Amino acid sequence: MSNNILVTGGAGFIGSHTCVALAAAGYAPLILDNLGNSDVRVLERLAAITGQTPAFIEGDVRDRALLDRLFHENVISGVIHFAGLKAVGDSVADPVRYYDNNVNGTLVLAAAMQAAGVKTLIFSSSATVYGDPERSPIPESAPCRPANPYGHSKRMVEQVLADLQHAQPDWRVALLRYFNPVGAHESGLIGEHPQGKPNNLMPYVCQVAVGLRDRLAVHGGDYPTPDGTGVRDYVHVMDLAEGHVAALRHAARAPGLVTLNLGTGQGASVLDVVKAFERASGRAIAYEIGPRRPGDVPAYWGDPSLAQTTLGWQARRGLDQMCADSWRWQQANPKGYEN
Ligand code: NAD
Ligand code: WQD
Repeated sequence: MSNNILVTGGAGFIGSHTCVALAAAGYAPLILDNLGNSDVRVLERLAAITGQTPAFIEGDVRDRALLDRLFHENVISGVIHFAGLKAVGDSVADPVRYYDNNVNGTLVLAAAMQAAGVKTLIFSSSATVYGDPERSPIPESAPCRPANPYGHSKRMVEQVLADLQHAQPDWRVALLRYFNPVGAHESGLIGEHPQGKPNNLMPYVCQVAVGLRDRLAVHGGDYPTPDGTGVRDYVHVMDLAEGHVAALRHAARAPGLVTLNLGTGQGASVLDVVKAFERASGRAIAYEIGPRRPGDVPAYWGDPSLAQTTLGWQARRGLDQMCADSWRWQQANPKGYEN
């Protein structure tokens, strides 16, 4: 059995961290990425961390001829599929682009895998498939009611892969529903660097701390939560990365399909994050409580117990470490991979 793992979207935030965890576990990641939302210089950083430059192919997951060539030229034992677009607002504005990239991209990949006889697939799904859940912690059995095209695209892919695994029971599929990934590798060499103004909380807080932005706008202070601000299940990206390795190992044991939450099982409010970041960075984070952000859910967090019993995986890093690692990355790389 080869130890080559195709990592689509492997130059991106979660994919790059997963390449570190893969290398540490003895796998050889082969990255396919169109660099639409990432920087090729991440490869040098990966080499510095792991001692090996991962194989890299610049290209699009919707390019069937490229995939066929790639599967022909390399003995690939499994695929981790991160490649996709993830901005909720953009998906509302341009749904066709989102369905094409996220759904069609996966269809092309699955067809190429079928043709090549590669039957192990780990897919990046999202807690966004739950929409506005009835209760937290959310178990995987909760109803899925995505609230935007991005969420629908993730749910559609889950359905496609469940149908495929049902039709061809020798496939080994893991649908991993991430909660809110944050943090960075402890080296400070790789991390998240959104283009333009960040949509997400942690990168915004980082940019305030480093002086790139004046103050955080807290989107709503009147939610029915302990301090009135939104509550989420933030999970360290290296814990997530290790969850993918655990999912690959699980897939190697037996065919089947698993759907698993990857989160900590703990909710943190916006102000909890601000306070933890202030502790980690020693800097004050200026903020202002403003109106709610349209479409936001007040509070949710996951029940990760199925991932623990199925994979033996559990998030180990807490909010303080998420903030400390985000800060180390941000401080050393205020312009991302540009320096
Ligand atoms: P990211 O944008 O940093 O990484 C995605 C990578 O895929 C980028 O490097 C991008 O260039 C590449 N890519 C996109 N479309 C491609 C295509 N058609 N062909 C080849 N490469 C392509 O995002 P991320 O945060 O690392 O997310 C990775 C995956 O996890 C995505 O599928 C995302 O939807 C999912 N996810 C992310 C979050 C989150 O909050 N970050 C939460 C849940 C799920
Ligand atoms: C977290 C909390 C905001 C920014 C999104 C996607 C979801 C998933 C993860 C991919 C909320 C508040 C934020 C700011 C703020 N991605 N906030 N000021 O919305 O939970 O999830 O990323 O699958 O699909 O929707 O994450 O980081 O944007 O927000 O007060 O400037 O921080 O209101 O309570 P979210 P987020």
